[in-house]
Amino acid sequence: MPCTIIVGAFWGDEGKGKIISYLALNDELDFCVRTGSVNAAHTVWLNGKKYALHMVPAAFIYEKCRLLIAAGANVHIGRLLEEVELTNVNGRMGIDQNASIIEEKHSLQDKTSAVNKGIGTTGWGVGPAIEERARRTAKLAKDIPELKPFLTDSVAEVNDGLDAGKKVLLEGTQGFMLSLFHGTYPYVTSRDTGASAIASEAGVGPTRVDDVLIVYKSFMTRVGAGPLPGEITKEEAKKRGWFETAAGTGRDRRSAPFNFELARKNAEINGATQAALTKLDCMFPECRSARKFVNLPADAKHFVKEVEERTGVPVVLIGTGPEALDIIDRR
Ligand code: IMP
Ligand code: MG
Repeated sequence: MPCTIIVGAFWGDEGKGKIISYLALNDELDFCVRTGSVNAAHTVWLNGKKYALHMVPAAFIYEKCRLLIAAGANVHIGRLLEEVELTNVNGRMGIDQNASIIEEKHSLQDKTSAVNKGIGTTGWGVGPAIEERARRTAKLAKDIPELKPFLTDSVAEVNDGLDAGKKVLLEGTQGFMLSLFHGTYPYVTSRDTGASAIASEAGVGPTRVDDVLIVYKSFMTRVGAGPLPGEITKEEAKKRGWFETAAGTGRDRRSAPFNFELARKNAEINGATQAALTKLDCMFPECRSARKFVNLPADAKHFVKEVEERTGVPVVLIGTGPEALDIIDRR
């Protein structure tokens, strides 16, 4: 803080929603800017209730946080309005006037495209919507009467906020291995998902960013097609307690053990200054709900230290359960 980028280390679903919700409450964030589009779901647990957010920033659980959708983001109007109501954030939600709009036709184009089927897209139509933006024929938020109450210049808001010393979090979506430029092309999403791109979408210059917090999960998962180094079978994943289904589409997630080499490389390319390690309790069940590092079993401590040594990045936050406050904060 004051300006931190949250970036996913692998193929998304690292638990960014949980980390952001913790930071929102604990650090009392002033602004949270969501990037990307509706294909990404960020899961937030609050008082035993689960929210799978596709549009509203994950920091919504801190009631004083201003919630923004970035200029470079892509907005699904129906889903946004639904989530604004569900999370009751009407008065503090802002959408940048230049954010682009995803329409029903894009979803149809996505679902009927043989290429996209082969990639295993989420089917929301984000690829076709971004194509349209690149063609300069997309609708922007400022063209939509329904969005009028939310329209803002989020870039000015955030930069003025930084001038005033406010705490700003830039919420990346998906993971670095899904980056259009740096991921496992063509099995990637339709944008760069890296830290620099997150700043760019939000309209924040690189020199204004204080920290890049890379979010690792204790094992790796991937939905859709494409390479996953060290992939294990679904049966093995169930045995290890790693089997998950996607928060957004409900599809099975494939899984693999933590890859230190990939973790190191992605920390480097994203300029990570801090790391979070989520779901440590899935690897070491005795860690469940632990709030202090000293209370972890020796093998779990060893794993955390190995992540730090081999990536060169301090692990400042450790996830030990689904609720926002199930966390070890070592800052
Ligand atoms: P698209 O982003 O819907 O075009 O899908 C392209 C690829 O990215 C597919 O393999 C999707 O499963 C994957 N993908 C997109 N968004 C997410 C996400 O939020 N979490 C995990 N995988 C995602
Ligand atoms: Mg997700």
